Amino acid sequence: MASFDKPALSAYFRRFATKIFISLLFIVSLTSVRVYADSDPKKGEELFTSNCRGCHNPPNVDKKLTGPSLKNIDQKHTEAWLIKWIRNNEEFRKSGDKDAIKIFEDNGKVPMNTFPSFSDDDIKNIIAYVKAISNVAPDDGGGETKNTVTENSENEGSNYSGILWIVVLTLLALSALIFRINRNLRRYAEEKNGDNIPHKSFYREVFSKGNVAFIIFIIVLYSGYWLVSASQGLGRSKGYQPIQPIKFSHAVHAGQNQINCLYCHAGAEKSKTASIPSAMICMNCHKAIDKGPRTGTEEIAKIYNAVGYNTTSGKYDGAQHPIKWIKIHNLPDHVYFNHAQHVKAGQIECQKCHGAIETMDEVQQAHSLSMGWCVNCHRETGVQFEQNKYYEPLFTKLHEELKSGKIDKVTEGEIGGTECQKCHY
Ligand code: HEC
Ligand code: HEC
Ligand code: HEC
Ligand code: HEC
Ligand code: HEC
Ligand code: HEC
Repeated sequence: MASFDKPALSAYFRRFATKIFISLLFIVSLTSVRVYADSDPKKGEELFTSNCRGCHNPPNVDKKLTGPSLKNIDQKHTEAWLIKWIRNNEEFRKSGDKDAIKIFEDNGKVPMNTFPSFSDDDIKNIIAYVKAISNVAPDDGGGETKNTVTENSENEGSNYSGILWIVVLTLLALSALIFRINRNLRRYAEEKNGDNIPHKSFYREVFSKGNVAFIIFIIVLYSGYWLVSASQGLGRSKGYQPIQPIKFSHAVHAGQNQINCLYCHAGAEKSKTASIPSAMICMNCHKAIDKGPRTGTEEIAKIYNAVGYNTTSGKYDGAQHPIKWIKIHNLPDHVYFNHAQHVKAGQIECQKCHGAIETMDEVQQAHSLSMGWCVNCHRETGVQFEQNKYYEPLFTKLHEELKSGKIDKVTEGEIGGTECQKCHY
């Protein structure tokens, strides 16, 4: 019991140990609530359906398509492995990972798509979906397999928080126990020393003014952090996918029928806004096509209703009811963004910013449109510098360096694309 011969040190340690323990407990429990809340099987399902379903069966179906079944794939590989593979399997194989190379060879060397734009959270959501659905029995009778997490997702959520509460309560109980033991040991030591100090009650000591103030301080600190990060996400709507008034499918038009994006979004090359086509543009084709393979005449009739087209007389003599499309991509008013600048001058493909639109039945916002997203691309993307006479007088030094081979590209960031006033009025 040598340590108790130094009461000052022990008291010092004790005072801080409780505070450190309380704050650790708090941070651990709250961050784990956030971590669990962030892995959303429902979002994972959406990502899976629009990006993976073409090659992989739903994870509860143990049958190979182009790619192998993903049933219980979370047990076959670690999360870190899956993140690397799913984001860019090609690069991952090049890094020499033996598993990755073997899986590629075992599957006849059919390359899987890469998904460099996926965040870790996106992939974790897909893994959460795989976990949630892997052992749900597929519904054989109806032909259509039951691969949605709708019924399960809520259970999953409460299971997670159930486990979490048990962990938190155990930790709390443990801390009370440790506190008690510590207190008894101290008493014992003091008695041995012959001191006779009056003692506060257990609860008085736990909820001393100092400890309570400290807990409040931690709560304020944490909720401040939470508030800031939550409000930064406000108004950002990566993944936003509203139901539109007409079931217009980009997969049918831009995918199967290969209609050029600019046929309908002519503005993207010429002006600031890409623009949504008027119903008269739809009529160019739908005057003749009055039936679709999936929705029959119902949805196309809405176009006729919008322009007041009378199918029997073939005249535009009815009342017009403009289609109220819901705008998906929205930048705040204080940001200047110009399509022509990117599509025409920058030669950037629509898909870089909007994802694989030509595979979507319903458009979904692919990126956050946050400031970081814009600026990062400006830092990385080379501009069409040599061909562009506009830059010549402005950036002679960069031009010379490029010619002499000192640099191999000029990025948008280097010619002012990270300056605040370029994007903010
Ligand atoms: C173009 C078809 C294709 C698409 C799209 C695709 N995959 Fe794959 N996937 C494959 C093939 C093929 C393999 C087998 C390995 C190989 O040949 O590269 C594979 C393998 C995998 C593996 C490893 C399986 C194992 O047995 O270890 C995982 C995990 C995986 N894919 C997840 C995904 C996810 C998640 C997505 C969607 C984000 C996706 N894949 C999209 C074709 C595809
Ligand atoms: C036949 C006409 C047509 C073609 C071709 C077409 N689109 Fe569209 N696009 C529309 C219509 C109508 C909407 C509004 C309804 C919707 O969101 O689905 C739209 C919406 C969009 C949106 C979302 C706009 C918003 O509200 O933020 C994007 C992005 C987009 N299209 C990109 C593309 C790209 C990229 C292509 C080519 C791969 C393309 N479109 C081809 C008609 C078309
Ligand atoms: C550099 C990124 C980028 C590229 C490339 C890009 N877009 Fe956009 N697009 C955006 C952003 C950002 C918005 C939101 C604009 C806003 O709210 O002011 C948007 C909005 C849209 C809209 C909604 C209507 C509008 O203009 O606000 C459509 C439609 C659209 N884009 C189609 C296209 C098509 C088609 C292409 C390719 C020809 C394309 N975009 C290329 C970033 C891009
Ligand atoms: C360049 C020609 C063209 C234009 C412009 C066009 N469509 Fe289509 N649309 C088609 C073709 C082709 C089909 C598929 C018909 C088929 O497969 O039988 C189709 C199918 C459809 C369907 C039925 C889909 C289904 O699966 O049942 C709807 C709804 C539709 N279009 C809405 C629109 C709307 C709204 C616009 C205007 C924003 C538009 N289309 C513009 C060519 C066009
Ligand atoms: C995929 C990459 C990419 C993304 C994402 C992107 N940009 Fe750009 N941006 C470029 C390139 C490349 C140019 C240079 C075009 C050229 O050659 O003139 C450019 C040019 C610009 C310019 C003109 C700057 C100048 O020097 O005059 C503005 C303003 C701009 N972008 C705003 C934005 C905003 C706002 C966003 C986000 C909403 C955004 N950009 C997202 C690649 C991108
Ligand atoms: C390439 C374009 C671009 C440049 C350069 C840029 N911003 Fe932004 N900024 C944006 C976009 C886009 C948003 C909207 C983000 C959102 O809605 O989440 C934004 C939002 C903001 C906001 C609002 C807070 C927020 O996060 O939404 C502030 C403040 C801001 N920018 C300041 C600056 C300052 C200061 C600079 C110069 C150092 C700068 N910006 C340079 C594109 C840009």
